[in-house]
Amino acid sequence: MNVHVKFLRLPNKILIFSLKGVIPGTAILLQALSTDLFEKATPQLTMKSLYSLARGNPVSALTTLAVLGLINTSGFAADKKLVVGFSQVGAESGWRTANTDSIKSEAAKRGIDLRFSDAQQKEENQIKAIRSFIAQGVDVIAFSPVVETGFEPVLQEAKKAGIPVVLSDRAVKVSDPSLYKCFLGSDFIEEGKRAGNEAIKLTDGKAGIAELVGTVGSAPAIDRAKGFREVIADHPDMKIILSQSGDFTRAKGKEVMEAFLKSPEAKQITLLFAHNDDMALGAIQAMEEAGIKPGQDIKIVSIDGVRGAFEAMKDGKLNVTVECNPLLGPQLFDIIEKVSKGESVPARVVTQEGVYEQAQAAEELPKRQY
Ligand code: AHR
Repeated sequence: MNVHVKFLRLPNKILIFSLKGVIPGTAILLQALSTDLFEKATPQLTMKSLYSLARGNPVSALTTLAVLGLINTSGFAADKKLVVGFSQVGAESGWRTANTDSIKSEAAKRGIDLRFSDAQQKEENQIKAIRSFIAQGVDVIAFSPVVETGFEPVLQEAKKAGIPVVLSDRAVKVSDPSLYKCFLGSDFIEEGKRAGNEAIKLTDGKAGIAELVGTVGSAPAIDRAKGFREVIADHPDMKIILSQSGDFTRAKGKEVMEAFLKSPEAKQITLLFAHNDDMALGAIQAMEEAGIKPGQDIKIVSIDGVRGAFEAMKDGKLNVTVECNPLLGPQLFDIIEKVSKGESVPARVVTQEGVYEQAQAAEELPKRQY
């Protein structure tokens, strides 16, 4: 007998959504049973009617037991692809491109139905995407929030719909921690501290600092600025004299650096702290166009560790990059798969990262994966 069964996945069990097939030994077409029917029927009735209809068909028999919650339904998951909605920040940097590739390729490797949406650095697009994932009834929602605040209502909607949420790369600020299952990503405060320590080493603790800040309101911009300041606070001659957002993009990094170099404070700048490599690479261009030697006249510390930064370090134009690992795909889908089965996961998973100085660039460059 050929029976088609559609399931409605809830966090811990699967309910029948519809069932279509011919009753064994008859020419009767059975179709369109819905969860509604099961809700109204008593378990005994449901079992009885399904059993007599299915007459020993293994699919239907298992389905009956699943409806009654008497078996672990993970056996069905093998037949059904896991559906994951992922809302990405955008395509603002080399880091982000590597992150997107890692997520897409890992989903493809695992046979996951990935519904991917690019928010183009706009929070409202991200909220719309999450609402659409809820309407589609995906199994799990994952996203990398553009900014920290403003997501609580939509996360409550996801919770109400019984769809678990996993945060990737960036965090959100919410009053109810049960609105997401896990946050996988870097410790951005630690990255800022590492950058601060490298800046102190490079300048012997005496610098006029220009800071290229990431996207305003984003977790990495807030935390990297915080970590950096915490570390330089003990060094009164480390002074931040200019600070402005370059939105994590190369074009904006260049534009803001041009403005810095035209400002009255320009002559005091001896060190640039860029919250990511892309902005540092844009700033390097601006410095060169202004006749300034990047990496020498102005020392540069940035964050990410993308290939372009290693090339710039090899050329002596960038001094240090603090690694921020974008290759989150494998870890992310390990977490998502566990969450989809109702298994417990840690609330926070921190990625392991290093720091690279100019002297290591030539050796490290061929090994870089992004
Ligand atoms: O959230 C991670 C940050 O976002 C990366 O440092 C930056 O390059 C990206 O745009």
